[in-house]
Amino acid sequence: MNATRTLSVHGGSPLSGTVRVPGCKGVSHRALVAAAMAAGESALANLATGNDVARTRAAIEALGVSTREAVDGSVMVDGRGVDAWREPVTAVDCGNSGTTMRFLAGACAGRPFRTVLTGDASLSSRPMARVLDPLRAMGADVSGSDGNNRAPLVIRGGSLHGTRHELSIASAQVKTALVLAALQAEGVTEIVEPAPSRDHTERLFRFLGAPVEVVDAVTTRISRGAPTPFTLEIPGDPSSAAFFVVAATLVPGSQLVIEDVLANPGRLAYLDVLREMGATIEVTPRPDRGGEPVADLAVTHALLRGTTIRSQEAIVDELPVLAVAAAFATGVTEIRDAAELRVKESNRIATLVAELSHLGAVVEELDDGLRITGRGADAPGGVGFEAHGDHRIAMAAAVGALALPGGSSIEGWDAVDVSYPEFAAHLAIIGGGVG
Ligand code: S3P
Repeated sequence: MNATRTLSVHGGSPLSGTVRVPGCKGVSHRALVAAAMAAGESALANLATGNDVARTRAAIEALGVSTREAVDGSVMVDGRGVDAWREPVTAVDCGNSGTTMRFLAGACAGRPFRTVLTGDASLSSRPMARVLDPLRAMGADVSGSDGNNRAPLVIRGGSLHGTRHELSIASAQVKTALVLAALQAEGVTEIVEPAPSRDHTERLFRFLGAPVEVVDAVTTRISRGAPTPFTLEIPGDPSSAAFFVVAATLVPGSQLVIEDVLANPGRLAYLDVLREMGATIEVTPRPDRGGEPVADLAVTHALLRGTTIRSQEAIVDELPVLAVAAAFATGVTEIRDAAELRVKESNRIATLVAELSHLGAVVEELDDGLRITGRGADAPGGVGFEAHGDHRIAMAAAVGALALPGGSSIEGWDAVDVSYPEFAAHLAIIGGGVG
């Protein structure tokens, strides 16, 4: 990625009013794939705006599924069922999006043609055996490069059979790939995870009448079938909301409402961590949509204290911004069980050590996480941060910069285009001093 843009932040101004974040990235990917599998037209409003979801949209188009924008901005998907999918004429470029690559590997494993999936340098270094191995156990002919563990992936799809998978890592991306394959397989597939992972796929596909059964918190059972076409206004992304929740907590005088956020209990588990650290957050429910709860989040400034954070898949994406919260807390915070951070869009343990030290916190790298000795709320002047080509590191750094008095900058700001291109514009609307 070419790191060309720099964001300037003048910290210390209170955040106030209301803000809406783009549609949930995870639900947006799933909604596009479900609509492509359904036989009939679907309408998706408030689809996530970033490049990752654009990659999934381009991928289903490469499979022969037409999409278009309606006058109200909804994305219309003209699904005709998986039997109408066609072999892509060129390799499908998944860009920076691990979700696109893993979902497509599963979805195409059941199709009688060859699909090649490529990605950028970061995605090409991320582990793929975790999805290829269980697909092979269902009869798929799939291969990766570099010892079968990296992109580019070659999927020669065909007939699949259901099986029982006992996975060694909890990953919603892997689980979803297997669900998408299992919906096209003969017989029953059972997926057992070592710990619960986010359940958006189960919720959406069950809502759409597909045979996806939740047996218990770690077991999913799937038979052959398809989702029905649907209309859905995708609720706001809880991980994008997390940047505003932490920013409003840290900047004195802030009082902010983040409206219409996806309130899946797993995805809002980071609120419990912040509350334990002393944050003041009120959750007001709205009616459910697409099988998911939705809510408004009201946040006021509070002083934080350190805690121990045991990572779980559900909060792994919020760990960078929780680490920033820890840097401004009094006392020590430990983030443990978080070795997965090393294989995200950057090695987030290494990139957080580098960026948090700019905040004046004492940061120690652990095998499975970080130990952060906070600097408390009283801070020196602004500093220069670096995004390391990682959208969540860029936005977490911006939150740190908002909480520091004086001018700071984040180099490589382009990285935010992956999930939240409008982040700086939205910050400006609620009073964040960005330029
Ligand atoms: C995601 C699952 C998580 C998460 C990623 C999105 C999903 O990855 O980090 O940003 O949409 O299923 P893993 O499933 O690899 O933990």
